[in-house]
Amino acid sequence: MQEEPNKEQGNEEEDFPYRTEFKKKSIRSYVIRGGRMTEGQRKAFDTYWGPFGLSLYDGAIEPKEIFGREAPVVLEIGFGMGDSLLEMTEAETDKDFIGIEVHPPGVGRLINNAGKAEVKNLRVYMADAIDVLNDCIPDASLDRFQLYFPDPWHKKKHNKRRIVQPEFVKLLCSKLKPGGLMHMATDWENYAEQMLEVLEAEEQLENTAGKGNYAPRPEFRPQTKFERRGERLGHGVWDLLYKRK
Ligand SMILES: C[S@@+](CC[C@H](N)C(=O)[O-])C[C@H]1O[C@@H](n2cnc3c(N)ncnc32)[C@H](O)[C@@H]1O
Repeated sequence: MQEEPNKEQGNEEEDFPYRTEFKKKSIRSYVIRGGRMTEGQRKAFDTYWGPFGLSLYDGAIEPKEIFGREAPVVLEIGFGMGDSLLEMTEAETDKDFIGIEVHPPGVGRLINNAGKAEVKNLRVYMADAIDVLNDCIPDASLDRFQLYFPDPWHKKKHNKRRIVQPEFVKLLCSKLKPGGLMHMATDWENYAEQMLEVLEAEEQLENTAGKGNYAPRPEFRPQTKFERRGERLGHGVWDLLYKRK
């Protein structure tokens, strides 16, 4: 049965019309917290959602049309407050970036800073990434996929909410071009082990660091906010870097 679009979300302020987009599903990898938005983040939606925002309900995109050029496309899921993604758009201006995040204050912060910096190679969904992958991203269209410090859901009974599962990785593989990169990082060892197990089992992928190995942090990945937080708490960091065969 086709799922009905669902636009409910935690941010209930009536005069704020921007809503996280997602379809009903039994298990979600996130909880939408309304979270207080700063005045700057709120205003950013009125000024910058137009140039940067994409909607789940507009269906499949053609990156070449959206960015007005043919360039490698990088997709990031769960950019949080967006600072590291913004840094990457500015460091790799030869690539076009699509960010997906469900947390409105993070989206507001990213488009505010990207707008002020006149960034041209970025578009953003405020939506559930699973729905965006299914409905909007064409097959074999991505040159790189990145997932940095996804929610660890560390209690055993919540492990099923972790976004990295075999079917998620299979879906990602279908969106990557042959030779495209799949990059993940986490500061939670038990989640790193799960990522390794799932990625190693996917036969469309080849581990760039050699079978069963974690990778050194590639130069293109800046430190993220969650990574710094983990570092303060004494956590390690595990990068996983695979290539689509
Ligand atoms: C722990 S934070 C990490 C943020 C950022 N990558 C960093 O390293 O600072 C994980 C983020 O993933 C987002 N997220 C989780 N599941 C998601 C989904 N299905 N679609 C989009 N965003 C998601 C959460 O809202 C959260 O902001």
